[in-house]
Amino acid sequence: MKTARSLIGLSLVVQVCVEVVGCSADTPAVNTELPLVPNSQPLTDTDPDPDTVAVRLVAAEGKQRYLPDGRADVWGYRDGALPKSEVRVPGPMLEVEQGQKVIVHFTNELPETTTVHWHGLRVPNHADGTPSAQVEVAPGESFDYEFVAKDAGTFWYHPHVHSDVQIERGLYAPIVVHGDALEDIPDISADRMFVLDDIKLNADGSLAQDTTQLDVMLGRQGNVLLVNGVRNGRIRAKAGTRERWRFVNVANGRYFNLRLPGQKLRIIGWDGGLLAEPYEAKSLLIVPGERYELLVDIPDAQGSAARLQTIYYDRGHEIPDPGPQTLFTLDVAASDATRAMLPDAWGTAVELDVPQDARERSFELSEQMPEGGGFATFQINGHAFPDVPVVEGRTGQVEVFRIYNHSEMDHPFHLHGMFFRVLDLDGEAPAHDGWKDTVNVPQESTLRFAVRYEEPGRWMYHCHILEHADRGMMGELKLLPDDENTE
Ligand code: C2O
Ligand code: CU
Repeated sequence: MKTARSLIGLSLVVQVCVEVVGCSADTPAVNTELPLVPNSQPLTDTDPDPDTVAVRLVAAEGKQRYLPDGRADVWGYRDGALPKSEVRVPGPMLEVEQGQKVIVHFTNELPETTTVHWHGLRVPNHADGTPSAQVEVAPGESFDYEFVAKDAGTFWYHPHVHSDVQIERGLYAPIVVHGDALEDIPDISADRMFVLDDIKLNADGSLAQDTTQLDVMLGRQGNVLLVNGVRNGRIRAKAGTRERWRFVNVANGRYFNLRLPGQKLRIIGWDGGLLAEPYEAKSLLIVPGERYELLVDIPDAQGSAARLQTIYYDRGHEIPDPGPQTLFTLDVAASDATRAMLPDAWGTAVELDVPQDARERSFELSEQMPEGGGFATFQINGHAFPDVPVVEGRTGQVEVFRIYNHSEMDHPFHLHGMFFRVLDLDGEAPAHDGWKDTVNVPQESTLRFAVRYEEPGRWMYHCHILEHADRGMMGELKLLPDDENTE
């Protein structure tokens, strides 16, 4: 009886919500305990050598239960080293130590070509997983990715072919590179990964496959919010302890604006790892592609429950405000733990000098609605990828990207292969400093960042709203080796 009732309620919500962008199915809690890591087990390391991690990764079709009753056909990843493993969304986490060599034997069991991009990892160009850097992996074929995990932090992997469709269907998974200053601190009682997404579900629990004009304009916003593939999940934490929470936003278009009512958020890291100076904020905006890390003080009172919410952020085109939406519930379990002082070991400060005569490159982001309706198109400097002129540079150079967002909505800008340092937004220096690879460029504003070109090759930069990237808002940075400095 009870199940039947909640299901009816749910299908109503879903049906109504399908019409409304930004609406959530804040449906009866399913009481699913969220695991510490999204997929119960990270990818299996098949190499006994402690300096090398070798994994088998498979992309394949599968099923996932997003609603209590009803299964969705998804595309996802599974651990190829475990013969019986099943596709899960998110896919299995890649967990490695800083400095380890990583070999990924990847096999494509999907009905179309794909690649794997290691978002945020500073990999050699041949391992970057874009169609500029490799031949797409055809159905039934394999490809080996090889790189060294240079930086500790939180990253993720996903395809770079038809990404608006492939990622939406479930091809994404988190990456943790261990080895930063916080890892040896015994006072941190849990290290959790939260992968944020939203999906457009039909009332029967299947994924909606249509793409509307609005989906293209805003990036497809779903009617169901997911954390680690679970809707309205719960976590249990011990009263009086302190936890490390890592977040990745893998949504096609949704901006998450986190809030923990009654608490300030202590932000300790983002894309490039731990910050040299953590800071506190009432809410935390995470745009598609970005990662953030928090150090959270679990309330002292056992039995209390707190909700992690996402609240409204105006990213343009009059996106409606659905009110606060719950991502998961935190249940506080009894414990006599007490917190020690905050650690004093954090990340290292960003070092990047921008020479006076550093070259500045201008990128104007724009959008166009075709006359008489239809799907919007997106441009960089007036051109749609692949017609955006290639930017050429040399390794070792420091250059400035000046990004002018000449449109009525925000765009999250991502650069492959290197971290950058934000210099200013509309002329004002940012309040906090740290390495980034994805940054929000608000509507009608200009953001500048500095970057040192590192590895030769063909690196993509693009908007991380996937419908925009796939419809033109992408370009290529071609780096040639700096011959003068090589003898
Ligand atoms: Cu997360 Cu080019 O992408
Ligand atoms: Cu965009």
